[in-house]
This record gives sequence, C-alpha cells and structure tokens, in this order.
Amino acid sequence: MNEITVDIAAPDDWHVHLRDDEMLDAVAPFTATTFRHAVIMPNLVPPVTSTAAAAAYRDRILAAAGPDARPDFTPMMVLYLNDQLDVADMLAGVADGVVFGAKYYPAGATTNSAAGGSSLLGHRATLEAMAAAGVPLLVHAESTDPAIDLFDREAHFIEHQLLPVVEQIPELRVTVEHISTRAGLDIVRDHRQVGGSITPHHLTCDRTDLLANGMRPHLYCKPVINSADERRAIAAAATSGDPSFFYGTDSAPHPLSAKEAAKVAAGIFNAPYALEVVAELFHELDALDRLEGFVSHHGADHYGVERSSATVRLTRRADDAVEPAESLVTADGTEVRIFGADAARRWTWEPLGMS
Ligand code: DOR
Ligand code: ZN
Repeated sequence: MNEITVDIAAPDDWHVHLRDDEMLDAVAPFTATTFRHAVIMPNLVPPVTSTAAAAAYRDRILAAAGPDARPDFTPMMVLYLNDQLDVADMLAGVADGVVFGAKYYPAGATTNSAAGGSSLLGHRATLEAMAAAGVPLLVHAESTDPAIDLFDREAHFIEHQLLPVVEQIPELRVTVEHISTRAGLDIVRDHRQVGGSITPHHLTCDRTDLLANGMRPHLYCKPVINSADERRAIAAAATSGDPSFFYGTDSAPHPLSAKEAAKVAAGIFNAPYALEVVAELFHELDALDRLEGFVSHHGADHYGVERSSATVRLTRRADDAVEPAESLVTADGTEVRIFGADAARRWTWEPLGMS
C-alpha cells in the first residue's frame, strides 16, 4: 500500500473537556497542538457560570497549553446554563470576547451535570436574550426520564425538550452536541439554524463494541454509544459534505480508577489521536476529500468564525510499525487511557504553517 497525504485547513474542536489542575496540565497540550479553536466545556465542579470564572479558566488553559501549542490556539469559553447564570453578565462576557456560548445539561444526564436543568424551555428568557445577541446554545440532548430506555433518550429529549425551543425561538443558533442517533441527525437536517457536532467515538464504535466481547468501560460515554445502524448513519452524515455537521471530540479524561470500577464514569479521552481516528474513518469510507469540510470548515461556518488559513498535513503510512502510547500519566501519578491507538498506528500529521 502506498503512502497517502492529505492537506487540510487547521482543524477546530467544537467540544472538549479539559478539566482543571494536574489533569488540565496533562491533557491541554494535546488539544492545543492539534486544534485552532477549542470549545471548552464548563462542567467543572463547581460549574463555570460567570464571565469572571470563564476568564480565569481561559487563563489556566492558556498557561497549561504548553510550548508546542499552535500559535492560533484559542479556547472558546462556554458558560453553564442554569439558574445561577446571569444574562447581563453573559452578554457582557460575549461583548468582551470572553464568552462564546452557553451549554445546557439536563441534570443527572452525565458527568458533573448535577447543576443542570430539568426544563430547557424553563430558561426561555435567557434563550431569547441569547437569540437576540447571536449567542449560540450548545445542548446535551439526552432525556433523564428513568422511564425512557437509555438508547432512546436522545430522541426523547429532542422531541420533548429541544424541538419546542427550536420551533418557538427560531432565531436561536443551536448545536446538538455529540450526536448519537438518527434523531440527532434529523433535527439538524430539518432546521437551518441547528448544527450538530460529532465525536470520533460515535463515528467509529457501536454498542456491540461496547458490550459484546467483554464489557469495555473505556468506551462508556454519554450519550451512550448506540447501535451499528445509528453509527453508520452518523458516519454517512459526517462524510456527506453536509455543512451542518462538524467535529467536536468530546474528549473527556477520567482517571483509570474511575473508568475501571463497579460504577464507571462516562467519558472518553481521545484528544491525542483525534485527527488520526477521523482521518482513518474518512479513508475507509473513501471520503478523504471531505475531511477538511468536516474538521476545519463546517463548524467555523456554523458559528460565523473565519476559516483557518493555516494548513495541516496528514499522512497515512504505508506500514503500521509504530506503537502509539495507550495511556498517559499526570504529574500527580494519575493514569488516563487514550482512545484511538489503532488509527494512530497508521496516521501522522504536522502543521505546515499559515498560507
Ligand atoms: O461521556 C461524557 N463525558 N459525556 C458528557 O457529556 C460529559 C463528559 C465528561 O465530562 O466526562
Ligand atoms: Zn462533552
């Protein structure tokens, strides 16, 4: 097999968890060396609900980004949408260039979501103010109704919580985060103002991978990885060239001790091989010519941000002789498992600078 080379505009990660303290120091360099923009999730404990907290967190991220960070690496800060959020403070943060958007978590849906909400439309006044100011709403679209089967919870949330908002406040720009089913794809396709982020793990894994051959806790995330049919539909959407779909890794590191336990934390740490995994999938689906749209252009267009003029070169090796690291250890000795080593055996990439 011959080597394959693909040049793309510098990619963006429209959804990432960088945590804080030693974990932040360990994981931030991977995101900062790979991506231009990174939309930073606010589910710290306590959550990031004010402009001052977002500005301080941005400073900590930039300090942790490391010497090899891209010169254009830009953390895009997001506030946690709940009753603590003060609309005037958020809008001032947006005007000052500190705050990018707001993220809604249904309380109890996932890691550090306890401070989230029980009704999206209950935040109507905030959502209308966001729509008027052009501030995007990022949504964890997953029902927490215990009567709803786990694998149907994205569809249930979309029908009962998100659709009313999208229809009643059509000026609000919305992102359905980490789409895991066709229900997520459909609401994006049906509404011009709605975009969808897609993760490397929802693109490449299904619940048979998660559960069939020995349960694999390192593939456990929220929304949970769904069926093979859903995965195929998600991969088809990502590789279709449809500008409504874009890359958001949802890289979410947890200590090994939290991932290998009787009750496992939701989250997959994929930042180190985020480009390699998506490149291999697009290669398999004969869609490498559409990779740049998905990882570098569509999200920027959805959010009204300029596309990058810098270039990254991806190369698929002729052999797979490399042994990529499968875990990292933080400064305080915490081990974190890395997703995507198989793809990293094949792919490498390098920034080529600004064009
Ligand atoms: O699997 C997940 N992990 N999904 C989320 O929505 C949150 C994330 C985390 O923070 O660990
Ligand atoms: Zn997330």
